[in-house]
Order: sequence, then C-alpha cells, then structure tokens
Amino acid sequence: MKIKNICCLGAGYVGGPTMSVIALKCPEIKVTVVDLNEARIAAWNDENLDNLPVYEPRLAEVVGEARGRNLFFSTDVDSAIDNADMIFIAVNTPTKTYGEGKGMAADLKFVELCARQIARIAKNDKIIVEKSTLPVRTAETLQTILDSTGNGVHFEVLSNPEFLAEGTAIEDLFNADRVLIGGKQTPKGKEAIQSLVDIYAHWLTPKQILTTNVWSSELSKLTANAFLAQRISSINALSALCEVTEANVDEVANAIGTDSRIGPKFLKASVGFGGSCFQKDILNLVYLCRYFNLPEVANYWEQVIILNDYQKYRFAKKIISSLFNTVSGKKIAFLGWAFKKDTNDTRESAAIYVAEHLIEDGAEIHIFDPKVSESKIKADMSYLWELNGLNEQKIALKLEQIFVYKSPEEALNQAHAVAVLTEWDEFKYYDWEAIYSNMYKPAFVFDGRNILDAEQLLTIGFQVKGIGKG
Ligand code: NAD
Ligand code: UDX
Repeated sequence: MKIKNICCLGAGYVGGPTMSVIALKCPEIKVTVVDLNEARIAAWNDENLDNLPVYEPRLAEVVGEARGRNLFFSTDVDSAIDNADMIFIAVNTPTKTYGEGKGMAADLKFVELCARQIARIAKNDKIIVEKSTLPVRTAETLQTILDSTGNGVHFEVLSNPEFLAEGTAIEDLFNADRVLIGGKQTPKGKEAIQSLVDIYAHWLTPKQILTTNVWSSELSKLTANAFLAQRISSINALSALCEVTEANVDEVANAIGTDSRIGPKFLKASVGFGGSCFQKDILNLVYLCRYFNLPEVANYWEQVIILNDYQKYRFAKKIISSLFNTVSGKKIAFLGWAFKKDTNDTRESAAIYVAEHLIEDGAEIHIFDPKVSESKIKADMSYLWELNGLNEQKIALKLEQIFVYKSPEEALNQAHAVAVLTEWDEFKYYDWEAIYSNMYKPAFVFDGRNILDAEQLLTIGFQVKGIGKG
C-alpha cells in the first residue's frame, strides 16, 4: 500500500523532529502532527523559528522547509486520524506515579487514549505505528482496543521505536545506524511493514532498515537503552574508584575503549545520566522482569539505576565536604541545567537532584543555562518536591534558595563554588580568569562533565574537582 497521508499523535521531542524529517524527505506524503497541548502546537506553527518548542540543532531549518508544504501541525486530532492511511503514536509514556507499578511501570494511559480515539474515528483500514517506547507486548493491548468497536475496519499494528538522541536528533534521523520495524508475520502484516520500509527508503539504504517480529522490536528498544545506560553506570562506578586511587577515569575509559570489542562511545564519566528515556525505560524493564517472575534479571538491571542515583548524590556530597562540610548560606553557581548539551529538555537532569541535595544542606543555587528558562527550572524543582510529599508552603520556601540568570557572569558573581552540570561547549570558552577574580576564595570548580581545562584552572588559582580524577 502506498502511503499518502500520515498523522502523528504527539508533537513532542520525538513526534516533532521525526515527522519533520519524514515530511522533508517524502514531499509527496502529507504529514500532520497533532497534539492536545494547544500552546505546543502554536509554538510549532510560530512564524519565528526560534520559538519552536523543541530546541535541536538544524531542526528549525528542516521545519522551515517542509512546514506549510506537506508538514502541518494541528490540534484537530479527529480530522487528522480520519484522513490518515498511517498513524504514528508518539505520545509520552512516563513512569507511573500512582497505583499498581508506581515508580516503575510505564504509564500507558496516553497511548490507550490514542487507541480508543483511533478506534472511534476510523472509517477505513489503517496502519498504526508504535513510535513511543512501550513495554513488550503492548501491540497486543492496542490491537484489542482497536478491534473493540467491531465496525469491520482493519488495523495493522507495527512497532517502529525511535533511536534518536536529543541534541543530535536531526543528524540521527538523517543518518540512522538503523531503523527497526516490527510487524506481524502474516501477508497483511508484511504488506504493512513494506509500506513503512518504503517511507524510510526515501533516504536510508536497505541495510539500515531492519525488520523483525513485533515483540523483538518492542523489546529491542528497552534493551538498547538499558545497554547504553549500563555503560555509563559502569564507567561512573569506576570513576569513584579512580578518585581514591589516583587513576584518571578518562585515561581508563580510553584504555578500555580502544579494545575494539568494547568500543570508545558512551564511556564518558559524568555526574550521572539524565533524560526522559534511560531511567524510565530501565525501570520499565525491571518491572517487566518482576512481572514475568525473573527477579535475578530485574535486580541486575536495577543496579544501573541505583549506581546512577549514587553518582548524583556522590557529586553533591563532594561539593559539601570540599566546602568545609557545609554549604549553608553559600552561593553555588550551576553552569547548565539541561540533561545534556544542545537540548532544552531537562527531564531527569542530574542537575535537579544535585540541586535538591545542596538545597537540603542550606545552599543558594545560582543557575545559568543557555536554553533553559527560569520557569522550567522552578517547575522541575517544584515537581520533585511535590513527589517527595512537600506541601505548597514548604515548596515556596525552598524555591527562595534558587536564582536563575540570563547571563553566566551574573550567576557566577560572588560565588563560593561553581559546578558544571551540562557539557555546553560555551562553558569551555568563558574567561575563567575574570570568573576567578569575582568569586569568593578559595574558589572551587566541580566539573561534573570533565569538560574544562583543569590545568589552566589550577594555574589561575582554582581548587578543581573533576569526576574520576584523584
Ligand atoms: P513529549 O512529552 O515531549 O511529547 C509527547 C506529546 O504527546 C506531548 O506534547 C503530549 O501533549 C502529547 N499527547 C499526549 N497524549 C496525547 C493524545 N492523546 N493525543 C495527542 N497528543 C497527545 O515526549 P517525547 O520525549 O516526544 O517522547 C515520546 C515517546 O517517545 C515516549 O514513549 C518516549 O519514551 C519515546 N522516545 C523518546 C525519545 C527522546 O529522546 N525524547 C527518544 C526515543 C523514544
Ligand atoms: C537516549 C538514547 O541514546 C537514544 O538512542 C534513545 O532513543 C533515547 O535515549 P538521550 O536520552 O536523548 O538518548 O541522550 P543520550 O545521548 O543517550 O544521553 C543520556 C544521558 O547520558 C545524558 O544525561 C548524557 O549526558 C549522559 N551520558 C551519555 C553520559 O553521562 N556519558 C556518556 O558517555 C554518554
């Protein structure tokens, strides 16, 4: 079947960039991205491309070319579903914060709502594509909901998980290591798989397009993230050992990574991984393993999360112990709040948890991030404190310990210490001599990303603490 009309439910960090690239590369296909969030859709339609809701290098360029030609953003979900031959579901699947599986299982209520809406609206056969990251066997649930109306419409469910990383989304989409398409191994299933293969074949080679059964595809996404995160927790575990033995974690990572069986990528020691995916997906995997009565397997993967929590806590503890065992009333400047560079996304950013520990000890946190707003930072902290059971009054009091600036100079002025939480390139090129002269002495730098030139900082007079550097 040749696809002419695509609809995508969810205009977030995945739906927005992936559909923009499909529209750019397939000019003969009309792509409509819909969302319930009106403000988000308005931002996607903003004439000024600097106001798109997602910051990604080169995204504005892609949207600028395709939008209004064959790429549309809308809140009219029903019409978009009705007109589409193929519907992508790219809504959020966060960790459940209530009830059965709280704190572990994926919350599939948004996905379920999408399936119910599609079942209600659809009048002709459609291919439904799972783009969201979902627990293995979700396609079965979707199929049951879709078929529940009994109106004779045929739905073919495919799994097509997204592997893009934020900050490099466009590059990852243009030149994917692979795309993965899972479907039923029936004639209709294979036909549906082929129509999605044909879309990606507009810009990817056959070798880059893998096809599997539905369950392998669903499970591969969770597992890919678990393996990636596991590498970071492994190197971060070693960073603690390096700090007490005078080994240097960068040298160790390089020595390990040059073994071609291990490889050099994803061995960068850090203050801990963040982002909307790793923690959520591993917790989901752990939950699934417990559900299928595999406690040893569950405990194995859970350790990746435990180690990551330890790494964030360890970083905060190092700041406190270095500043003579208390940060009460002291000004700690944060460079960066996003969970990694080149994105405005802050979900599960290590900065949030480090700030929480330091505020608990009485610190004032003075923050600068090139792409994250004050309201976002305050919302992140309020959300965490709310989850921890704090009431409104207590949250308001704690928020008084947070200050957000539009320039690094203001954040760093008269600080006792500076902590690098995100690896934004610009931090490397600041005038560190000037920063030093405006800070309290002894002036401390805690480099949670090992991006600054430690030798240069030491020469200026800073006390420097990196990750995994004795
Ligand atoms: P997001 O929160 O940025 O976007 C999801 C959007 O879906 C929101 O704008 C929300 O308003 C919208 N939505 C929710 N219910 C809806 C409904 N019924 N109809 C229409 N719109 C609805 O989330 P995201 O980061 O884009 O992630 C989406 C999915 O992709 C998740 O399952 C995630 O695990 C997966 N994923 C994310 C990444 C990533 O890097 N962010 C990478 C790969 C996979
Ligand atoms: C991840 C996966 O990489 C991607 O394939 C999947 O589709 C979604 O989840 P993302 O979360 O956007 O992507 O970013 P990623 O580059 O994986 O970084 C995740 C976190 O790990 C960041 O906080 C990053 O700073 C940290 N990280 C990454 C390290 O601490 N060290 C590393 O070596 C690599």
